[in-house]
Amino acid sequence: MKKAFIKSYGCQMNVYDAERMTDILQAEGYQETSSQEDADLIILNTCHIREKAADKVYSELGRLRTMKNEREAEGKDLKVVVAGCVAQAEGKELTRRAPAVDVVVGPQSYHHLPELLRRKKGERVVETEFETEEKFEQLPVPPRERTIARGVSAFLTIQEGCDKFCTFCVVPYTRGVEISRPVAKILEDAHRLADAGVRELTLIGQNVNAYHGEDGKGGIVSMGRLLHLIAAVPGIKRIRYMTSHPRDMDDDLFEAHRDIDAVMPYLHLPIQSGSDRILDAMNRKHTAAEYCKLIERMRTIRPDIALSSDFIVGFPGETDAEFKETMKLVADVGFASSFSFKYSARPGTPAAEMDGQLSEELKSERLITLQHLLEEQRQDFNSKMIGRTIDVLIEKPGRHDGQMGGKSPYLQAVHFNSTHHQVGDIVPIRILDKSTNSLSGEILSSDIK
Ligand code: 5AD
Ligand code: SF4
Repeated sequence: MKKAFIKSYGCQMNVYDAERMTDILQAEGYQETSSQEDADLIILNTCHIREKAADKVYSELGRLRTMKNEREAEGKDLKVVVAGCVAQAEGKELTRRAPAVDVVVGPQSYHHLPELLRRKKGERVVETEFETEEKFEQLPVPPRERTIARGVSAFLTIQEGCDKFCTFCVVPYTRGVEISRPVAKILEDAHRLADAGVRELTLIGQNVNAYHGEDGKGGIVSMGRLLHLIAAVPGIKRIRYMTSHPRDMDDDLFEAHRDIDAVMPYLHLPIQSGSDRILDAMNRKHTAAEYCKLIERMRTIRPDIALSSDFIVGFPGETDAEFKETMKLVADVGFASSFSFKYSARPGTPAAEMDGQLSEELKSERLITLQHLLEEQRQDFNSKMIGRTIDVLIEKPGRHDGQMGGKSPYLQAVHFNSTHHQVGDIVPIRILDKSTNSLSGEILSSDIK
């Protein structure tokens, strides 16, 4: 049996796509392997969001060229596929710059992998068409055992692409326009996942709260309504979603957070910068005050909501005072966890052409300052859990005998001792202690059977 190795970089959407590619390849008779040495086929599922991520692909391809030459000297074959957003952005350029590459396939065309792989040896192909709806219809449904093996927490794509065109971002070019999957298809997936033991669904998309899917009766369903429909699927106990845009936080979504227990009290809502001038230059189309208003409204509805965001430091022209506005916003809002990045100029985006590109040194300095504060807030947030009792969804046995590991409603890793609980159970745990990246606790005595 032929073996395939898939390496995924970047966002959750790539993790999801890599799983779908594994399903496609298994239907084609490939077995998944975790070792490149074993593989007859290597797929790099790439990320183009920042320069560093894209550069990694070329250095990896250099290494694969040597590996491929060695295999050929032994009379063996190795196929190399570049998938994901670098494939979409670079297209033919990849086959020119990287001789090891046999197939280049974009994120909207990987359902064509079987036919692309069947091409004659030495024939190099580039497939980067945009046809999202067709892709979703053609993806094979994985066997139930594979879904079970993937665990009790699963991703489900509800929406793809983005029409927002933030001036720093490549996503609208690599993932294409915003497309929502029809409600019936999403519910079909949710039922199938729940039947295989999935208890937590994370609804994913580049801009999930812009969701506007067809209900099959001529109507359009909002993200808030969709959350109600998914919460009604038997077995689904927890729902999360990411990533959202502040401009698409509508009443339905606020109400869903208020009314649906399964919607976890955790919101990832990127702001990127605390400066109105920078937000405008980024084409975010909202101010820092408007963002804070949304947060206030959410906190009124769900006082226990934990917040998370993305930040970019060193956007072209960002002054020291403007960076300080970001620091102030972070101090004012208080985040449970966040992602922060140095601005990276991406070819073809408007910001890459702007005046006032900042030095790497200055960007690094600002990033360190911001990350210091964000980390302090994360640790504070985790410390506040000590002494509280929180529900933990058990995801796997812990590292030590008798230990179980899972997640809190706020996405914190929690471990505790138990011999009578199972993966998939949701158990109230009293938090006793914390380390840098996890919490530990104990089962309440009333819950010991
Ligand atoms: N440079 C740095 N960070 C970026 N992001 C997107 N594009 C860039 C870029 N050019 C970050 C944003 C976004 C997250 C997914 O990646 O913060 O929310
Ligand atoms: Fe990129 Fe997000 Fe802006 Fe869309 S909303 S362009 S995905 S940063």
